Amino acid sequence: MPRPIQALIHADAMAHNLARARAAAPDAKVWAVVKANAYGHGIERAFDGLRSADGFALLDLAEAERVRACGWRGPVLLLEGAFEARDLELCSRLNLWHVVHCSQQIDWLAEHKTHQPHRVFLKMNSGMNRLGFAAASFRAAWARLNALPQVDEIALMTHYSDADGERGIAHQVAAFEAATHDLPGERSLSNSAAVLRHRLRSDWVRAGIMSYGSAPDFPTHDIAHWGLRPTMTLHTQLIATQVLQAGDSVGYGSSFTAPGPLRIGIAAVGYADGYPRHCGTGTPVLVNGVRTRTVGRVSMDMVAVDLTPTPDANIGSEVTLWGCGPHGSQLPIDEVAHAAGTIGYELMCALAARVPVRVAE
Ligand SMILES: Cc1ncc(COP(=O)(O)O)c(C=O)c1O
Repeated sequence: MPRPIQALIHADAMAHNLARARAAAPDAKVWAVVKANAYGHGIERAFDGLRSADGFALLDLAEAERVRACGWRGPVLLLEGAFEARDLELCSRLNLWHVVHCSQQIDWLAEHKTHQPHRVFLKMNSGMNRLGFAAASFRAAWARLNALPQVDEIALMTHYSDADGERGIAHQVAAFEAATHDLPGERSLSNSAAVLRHRLRSDWVRAGIMSYGSAPDFPTHDIAHWGLRPTMTLHTQLIATQVLQAGDSVGYGSSFTAPGPLRIGIAAVGYADGYPRHCGTGTPVLVNGVRTRTVGRVSMDMVAVDLTPTPDANIGSEVTLWGCGPHGSQLPIDEVAHAAGTIGYELMCALAARVPVRVAE
């Protein structure tokens, strides 16, 4: 028998979450963001759930090829554009739209031989300071692109640093507006947090994390608040139980010591599966759908859980690390990420290759 750990992908939940993005931005077209292998879900596994999107946004040419291989003939956007000049050949061949964020990418386009002019998204750096033209050089970049026979439509794009937090987006919206207000073209402005928290007009929104059932602004809001559903479940089983006496400890470093008699279970999951080692004692977990906590350090292949709330649990009992448990139970990935000092994005993306993944019925 293989190790009992498994990840389940819930395509119906993805479709539901994408519909939430549409409802929150009713006038916009929606990019389903499927970079990082659909945030760890697998592009092919996510495709069915996300196929009602207006387009797929991603980074790698290889991922773009996989989206086309799924049979998708609609828009595909490379969010960081070309990494070298010859990437544009595949853009022409697969009809990929691409971001232009620096002058070198315009130089490559100017040299590119194509019968099919490209659709580009010109990116402005409105304050994030990762990619994009600063306000002072944005219009010159637009004029240069507009003069190229290799380019047809130019959309305008920017990305917010604080859409999920207190600082918000007003300062970046103002900078973007000031630099672009009289330029033609569609706008693509909002990521998940901006879609949910800041109702601003955008022709294209870029729905990433919300499509995957994680709240972009947890713990301020959770997925129940935003009406989102988990799209990834990580579950396993108990492979042993132990009874600790007062003063007994568990796991490496003896980081947890039982204050009194305590029955624990040993679950077949560890950091080599992508369950974070930073999850300390008290991280929420479900046993047979009942909420309990981890105790002690996470090891490579195992973690201990407190069986106090589930006295009937035994070897073979179901353990849900995040996602959907039995009897309608749920453990949002954001709660586990929070306990590990990180965000849901990282846990999804870090699901280890050794974990078998199945699309749920
Ligand atoms: C340019 C860009 N747009 C959209 C997204 C999607 O963001 P989110 O997953 O927060 O919706 C990302 C993700 O990092 C991004 O880099």
